[in-house]
Amino acid sequence: MGQYALRALQAKEVTLGRSIPWDVVDRWGQLLLAKGAHIDKEDLVSHLLEHGYRQVPKSELARMGELEMGQHERRYRGLPMQAVRRVATRLGKVYASAQKLGLDVDEIRDLVHQLVDLTRNDPDEALASVVLCNQGSYAIWHAVHVAIVGLVLAGDSPAMEEARKSVAAATLTMNYGMYPLQDELQNQEAPLTDEQRETVRSHPAASAEALREAGVTDPIWLEAVAMHHERLDGSGYPRGLSGREIPFHARLLSACDVYCAAISSRSYRRALTPGQAMREIFVNSGKLLDEALAQRFVKVLGIYLPGTVVRLANNEVAMVVARSEQANAPMVASFVSRWGEGRAPALRATVEEEFAITEIVDPDDVRGYSNLLHLWGDVCGVRESKR
Ligand SMILES: [Fe+2]
Repeated sequence: MGQYALRALQAKEVTLGRSIPWDVVDRWGQLLLAKGAHIDKEDLVSHLLEHGYRQVPKSELARMGELEMGQHERRYRGLPMQAVRRVATRLGKVYASAQKLGLDVDEIRDLVHQLVDLTRNDPDEALASVVLCNQGSYAIWHAVHVAIVGLVLAGDSPAMEEARKSVAAATLTMNYGMYPLQDELQNQEAPLTDEQRETVRSHPAASAEALREAGVTDPIWLEAVAMHHERLDGSGYPRGLSGREIPFHARLLSACDVYCAAISSRSYRRALTPGQAMREIFVNSGKLLDEALAQRFVKVLGIYLPGTVVRLANNEVAMVVARSEQANAPMVASFVSRWGEGRAPALRATVEEEFAITEIVDPDDVRGYSNLLHLWGDVCGVRESKR
């Protein structure tokens, strides 16, 4: 790669009706579209934004502050997950300093920009962090996880560019109005006190008010925060809105909020598996969210999020590393042999009968084999060499 790195194409760099000014390659450096080719179809624009990269001098990337994320040769060495963890650390600092200084809205916008790039360039790795990264403040991690799931669900449509950023900004700030109570409740088994209940009930409005005070005027951002606990059937709070009174971006946010809360373990109950959480979403479809959105959850996220540990039909234990066209048949990397021995990760397509997923395995049962975060780095090396 030398003095060059690959950089994912940006929406502003691909224009329908124009010619492409450089060779466009995929993330493995294979040519997708030669320099000078005419961009004549909307589908081609989407394809290029989803898969296209261009060679950029590292000096240019460094100037743009993007060297780390643009370095192709480091992308599949656990770097995206480290980037997600840095976002969480920075968000924690925003929350910690907000009591004295007010919310740093510019920092929130910058974190959104990072998450948009991460979920566009490395959606499977970003989703894996929802399963694998949760050490530290629940409130902070939950906000980051909901943002990642929301951004992946919103897809890569250029038309959604601004709304997507607004919704992601809303996810990072929706529960600010009950921070740090949200962390305290994570470890509380006793019922809520009246004061706590009131703080919970008023937090959507309190969060929106804090954002207004910090200078936020974006109506989608503010509305999504204020309405993220409203429910389709009118059972939500604080206003008890129903149906189409709740705009799409608020419904998307609340569905992602519920999904991520369901798959996180709390002290007083075990987490649901991603598959169980998905069933919850469907059971509640019509009550909580519309059916089209529920179907999009399954189609885009699949039944098994990357990072999930599963047992295969041949008795191997594996980690999900990539979603596939089939919601119930992702790519996995086997790291425990059929005889129960640790092994170098090997890539398996679970669509094949021999490797079909038979059950989800509790990560605690396989921690003896490997630190799951380290394992993620290892299995991603497998992905890179096999694809
Ligand atoms: Fe909330």
